[in-house]
Amino acid sequence: EDLDLGGYPHYMAKEIQEQPESVERIIRGRLDDRFGVARLDGLNLTPRELRGFARVKILGCGSAYYVGQIGATMIEELARIPADAEAASEFRYRNPIIEADTLYIAVSQSGETIDTAFAVEEIKRKGGRVVGLVNVVGSTIARACEGGVYLHAGPEIAVASTKALTNMAVGFALIALALGRVRDLSNADGQRIIDAIRALPGQIKSILDFEPEIAEHAKTVAAAKSLFFVGRVRGYPVAREGAQKFKEISYRHAEAYQTSELKHGPLALIDEALPTVAIVPSDELTGRNLAAVQQIKARGGAVLAVTHADVDFGELDVPRIVVPKTEPELDPILLTIPLQLLAYHAALTLGYDIDKPRNLAKSVTVE
Ligand code: G6P
Repeated sequence: EDLDLGGYPHYMAKEIQEQPESVERIIRGRLDDRFGVARLDGLNLTPRELRGFARVKILGCGSAYYVGQIGATMIEELARIPADAEAASEFRYRNPIIEADTLYIAVSQSGETIDTAFAVEEIKRKGGRVVGLVNVVGSTIARACEGGVYLHAGPEIAVASTKALTNMAVGFALIALALGRVRDLSNADGQRIIDAIRALPGQIKSILDFEPEIAEHAKTVAAAKSLFFVGRVRGYPVAREGAQKFKEISYRHAEAYQTSELKHGPLALIDEALPTVAIVPSDELTGRNLAAVQQIKARGGAVLAVTHADVDFGELDVPRIVVPKTEPELDPILLTIPLQLLAYHAALTLGYDIDKPRNLAKSVTVE
């Protein structure tokens, strides 16, 4: 086993570092510069079929569900098709309405999660069309779907998923591009997204170079018994996934909230003992996000921002983790990376079993 670790102390550390290469693998051969489009032959859908879908519904569990939310936002933004994500564990039990003109996407690292596999069966039974975004080739979910996009992340051993999740997010960018280019997304806009996708591996590498600084932030954050992760619109699923990782391996209470909803309740909890990790990208909501950070600070709450270099915090005394800017639609892919390192180093500081957290399994294959 130690040999497989390749000199890393944990599989999670190894898998985090493998991300630049694993992202290279999911995009290889799938970007077509002539037409500014993604080539996803494995979907087994013609352009006409792709164009015929009126909605997209994404199903997954745990972190895959949160990445599904990132994917839904990308699809709405790039393809302008109504899209949302739902926990497969709920979907399969609530007598969902299955529609013939909805594209269902099942997302799973293992391809064996029983809740997701049963959601796929429910969709198929009722005549729906479902494709997979799956890592493990030939897995139950991959076989049950009529087509799909393999993640090519390579084997993932740590219970806390990292490289598979990043590839899921990139996979959704490819699907959004494919759906967008049979609708109103222009060739030029398609090319803008392709260029940005190509730059991702190098940008991820540059975030990983900041690991020592992120480890210092993690020590401070790990001292708190409870914390908030906040973001809005593109940043909200990033916050959800950040909080999930923190709970899973640091055993700290971490709650994700939409930054915009803080004032409608949870702001009452903010004090010196409850720090907030705030996702503050440089985009059309920066001003509103900064106003929320100011409100948290005014109530004595500490804030750690995950942000871009050009965001001006002015007088606000806020420690920052700065990630490189990509196209706004793709920002969530890079904003998520430092949160992996934050959870990893918090768990390391606290002395927990990083690769095998208590009470959790890598894939939940029984009810
Ligand atoms: C388990 C794992 C989670 C994972 C989820 C979905 O609960 O502990 O980390 O996100 O299953 O797994 P999948 O293999 O379907 O992506």
